[in-house]
Amino acid sequence: MRMTAVRRPARLEGVLELPGDKSVSHRALILNSIATGEAQVENLSPGADVVSTADCLRALGVEIEAGRVAGRGFDGLRPAAGPLDCGNSGTTMRLLAGVLAGRPFASELVGDASLSRRPMGRVVEPLRAMGAAADSGPPLRVGGAVPLRGVDYRMPVASAQVKSAVLLAGIQAEGTTRVTEPAPTRDHTERMLEAMGAPLERNHAGITVGPATQLRPLDIRVPADLSAAAFWLVAGALHPAARVTLRGVGTNPSRSAVLGVLARAGIEVKVRNQRLEGLEPVADLEVGTSRADRPFSIGTAEAALLIDELPVLAVAATLLPGVSRITGAGELRVKESDRIAAMSAGLNAMGADVRELEDGWEIHGPHHLEGARVRSEGDHRVAMALAVAGLLAHGESTIEDADCVAISYPGFWNDLDRLWHP
Ligand code: S3P
Repeated sequence: MRMTAVRRPARLEGVLELPGDKSVSHRALILNSIATGEAQVENLSPGADVVSTADCLRALGVEIEAGRVAGRGFDGLRPAAGPLDCGNSGTTMRLLAGVLAGRPFASELVGDASLSRRPMGRVVEPLRAMGAAADSGPPLRVGGAVPLRGVDYRMPVASAQVKSAVLLAGIQAEGTTRVTEPAPTRDHTERMLEAMGAPLERNHAGITVGPATQLRPLDIRVPADLSAAAFWLVAGALHPAARVTLRGVGTNPSRSAVLGVLARAGIEVKVRNQRLEGLEPVADLEVGTSRADRPFSIGTAEAALLIDELPVLAVAATLLPGVSRITGAGELRVKESDRIAAMSAGLNAMGADVRELEDGWEIHGPHHLEGARVRSEGDHRVAMALAVAGLLAHGESTIEDADCVAISYPGFWNDLDRLWHP
C-alpha cells in the first residue's frame, strides 16, 4: 500500500495525452468479442479494470492480443474453467452478466472485496424477468437457461451498466427488449450496437433492441478519457499559475456535463479542434487559472451524466465562494467506495466545510485547504480527487493507498510530476 506525498507547485503546466476511455474500452472489447470477425481496438485503456475485462473474455475462449479481438459470435464463447475474476470492476461484472445470461452454460463472476459488496440485484432482476437463470451472489451466477425472452424494463436507478446488461441480453432474446431510464446515462453501448448492425431504436420512450446474434466487428480508436481529464481541468482552473492542455479527449454529450458545471462556476475550458473519431466526438481541452467565482448546484438528472466527475467537482466546490449543493447522487455510496463519505472525510481533514447529505454534499466555500494525511479508501477516483486537493492546498498532503489509481489511470502520478513545476 503506497503512500504518496503531494505539494502545491509554483506552476502547473503542460500537455498531456490521457489514457483511453474506460467505458468505451470495456465495450469495444466485449462487443467485438461477440461479433463475427476480427477488429482492431486502438488506444485501449491501460487501466486494471479493462485488463479484468480482457482476461475474463480470454477465459471465455476469445483471442485478444494487442488490441486485436478475434470475435467468433455469441456461439464462440465457451464456459470458463473457473470463476471469472472481475477484480474491482463493476462494468466488467454487470456487462458480462448481460452477455452470459443468454448463453447455454452457467458462469460464475467474482470480484475483490469492494466489488463483492456492490449491488448486483439491480442487474439480476431484469435478467430474471427475461427468463435467465441468475443469482446476485456473491459470486454472481448467471446463464444456462435459454432462450431468453424480450422485456419491457423500467430501470429504478439511472445506471449505464444495468442498461447495457439488459441490452446485451436483449440482443440474444426472442422478441424485442425495451429499457427506460429514469435519467439519461452514457450511451456508448447504444452507439456501438447500432454501428455493428443491431436493430436499435432510441426515442423518448426508451431504447429498444431486437435479436442480433450476428454483429459486425468494429475497428475503434478509443478517445482519451474525459473522466481522467476532469482531474486536471479542476486542478488547472483553480491553481493560481496554471495552463494545461489535454489532447483528443472524448466529448460525447452523455459524458461532458462536467464542462457545463465548470462554466457555471466561472471556469472556461477551451474546446478546440472538435472532430468525430469513429463513433465518438473528441476535442483538445485547454484550461488555465480561472475566475472560478461562483458556486454550483447539481441535481438528479445532471448527476447521472457526471457521476464519476463528482468527487473532483467536490474539491472544486471547497474553493468557490458560496454554497455549492450536489444532490441526487446517492449512487456515489455504492461505487468502489462510499464516495460521499470518503470525500467529505478527506476534504474536511484538509480544512474544508463539506456537509454530508444522504445523496450528495453541501459545500461551503471558499476555504483554504491545508495539507493533511487522507485516505483513498482504495478507490481510484477518491485518490485522484484528493491528489488534486493536495495540489491546491498549502503544505504537504499524504494520500494513503495511492496505487489504486491504476484501476483507470496507471500513469496518473507520472502525469502529475510532468505538470508540476517548482
Ligand atoms: C460506467 C457507468 C457508471 C460509472 C462507471 C462506468 C459504464 O456506473 O460510474 O465508472 O462504463 O457504464 P453506473 O452505470 O453503475 O452508474
